[in-house]
Amino acid sequence: MRLSVIGCGYLGAVHAAAMASIGHEVVGIDVDERKVAALSKGEAPFFEPGLQEILTEGIASGRLSFTTDMSAAAGAKVHFVGVGTPQQAGGYAADLTYVDAAIDGLVPHLAPGDIVAGKSTVPVGTAERLAPRVSAAGATLVWNPEFLREGWAVQDTVDPDRLVAGVPSEDGAPTADGATAADVLREVYHPSIGKGTPFIVTDYATAELVKVSANAFLATKISFINAMAEIAEVTGADVTTLADAIGHDARIGRRFLGAGIGFGGGCLPKDIRAFSARAEELGRGESVAFLREIDAINLRRRDRAVDLVSTALGGALFKKNITVLGAAFKPHSDDIRDSPALDVAVRLHGLGAWVTITDPAAIENARRIHPQLNYVEDRDEALREADAVIVVTEWDEYRRQLTPEHAASLTRGRIVIDGRNCLDAAAWRAAGWTYHGMGRP
Ligand code: UDX
Repeated sequence: MRLSVIGCGYLGAVHAAAMASIGHEVVGIDVDERKVAALSKGEAPFFEPGLQEILTEGIASGRLSFTTDMSAAAGAKVHFVGVGTPQQAGGYAADLTYVDAAIDGLVPHLAPGDIVAGKSTVPVGTAERLAPRVSAAGATLVWNPEFLREGWAVQDTVDPDRLVAGVPSEDGAPTADGATAADVLREVYHPSIGKGTPFIVTDYATAELVKVSANAFLATKISFINAMAEIAEVTGADVTTLADAIGHDARIGRRFLGAGIGFGGGCLPKDIRAFSARAEELGRGESVAFLREIDAINLRRRDRAVDLVSTALGGALFKKNITVLGAAFKPHSDDIRDSPALDVAVRLHGLGAWVTITDPAAIENARRIHPQLNYVEDRDEALREADAVIVVTEWDEYRRQLTPEHAASLTRGRIVIDGRNCLDAAAWRAAGWTYHGMGRP
């Protein structure tokens, strides 16, 4: 099928390449000329495992192309909209400027019977508001939220847990060629639906809410375990053992119970804030008032990590060499948007420490935003002469491949703060390190 994808960021670029990889003919459209130039050469503009390969393949096959020209959308049957919805400057609500601009730019190129499939994460009510503009062109708007995780984006797009389509109330009505909008989307995603992926067809509001409530639930799970970490810290309990134990209950599950410096990234923080803001607009602020607490617990963990480093170094950070292992908001990503790792590094720097930071993928992005920190590519070079080491992104390079003995051969001090509870505490202690976890004795 011919498809267009408007917006070629994390979501759109992966979606475009993934749709080409399952056999569709796809044009990706973005206003950013540099991004389009890179993608057209088959270069991934960000680090995402597997993306490079499917981009190169798609372009070589002739099924995938990128352009800044919106008129290239004409002729596609389905137009995916995957532009960003960042947090508004000066507020918690989502900024919908790019979504509105994408729809307005697309409408003149729509043909009757086309489908516009919104993928961006939007406040509930957005699709209802945009639908008349799309139907004025004889096309149908559906909302088809995206649940991809960075680092697993290709896999999550080709083989998602579930597919959700919010369709207009009148979508029994077939399009020009006799299929409903849901039928057309079913055809787009037939390889994964064929493998048994649930395809849930619902109304606009439910589809929009599925996405934000999924992220609110995940954020709540992480902050729940971090709240338990706070209690563990004053009682001497070990939050990792606690998480293992409660995680054995299938109703709870162990995933997303990793206590540490908390969640960041381009989605969870802004999505829970936008959800609160939207709920307030709807007069139901109290229904999700707990999300403010989720946010607060999350942010307190960064303070806690900084305190742990400071206390371990005798209360003063001034002129102390601190090596920060990690800058990305999570491993397998070069994304530093709202990264707790980078935030901790910046705070330590602000308190007078000499901060050296390393990361396998995110240094370039981090340096652009925080040029004041000392960036070192090589992990071992970064560890040299450190008075204390803090792990803030659980890359395998730190979690598995760095032995405490090897680290000790490089550093000056023997203090390690495990901001992700990802190290083997006993092994580090046995090698002579003073180990501090988050919510662990
Ligand atoms: C998230 C959702 O998982 C995804 O479904 C949605 O489409 C977009 O938002 P992502 O931002 O890629 O995906 O990251 P995710 O894997 O959810 O991790 C978010 C943050 O939570 C990271 O900073 C991670 O380090 C942190 N985290 C995750 C924890 O602190 N503890 C955990 O147990 C799990």
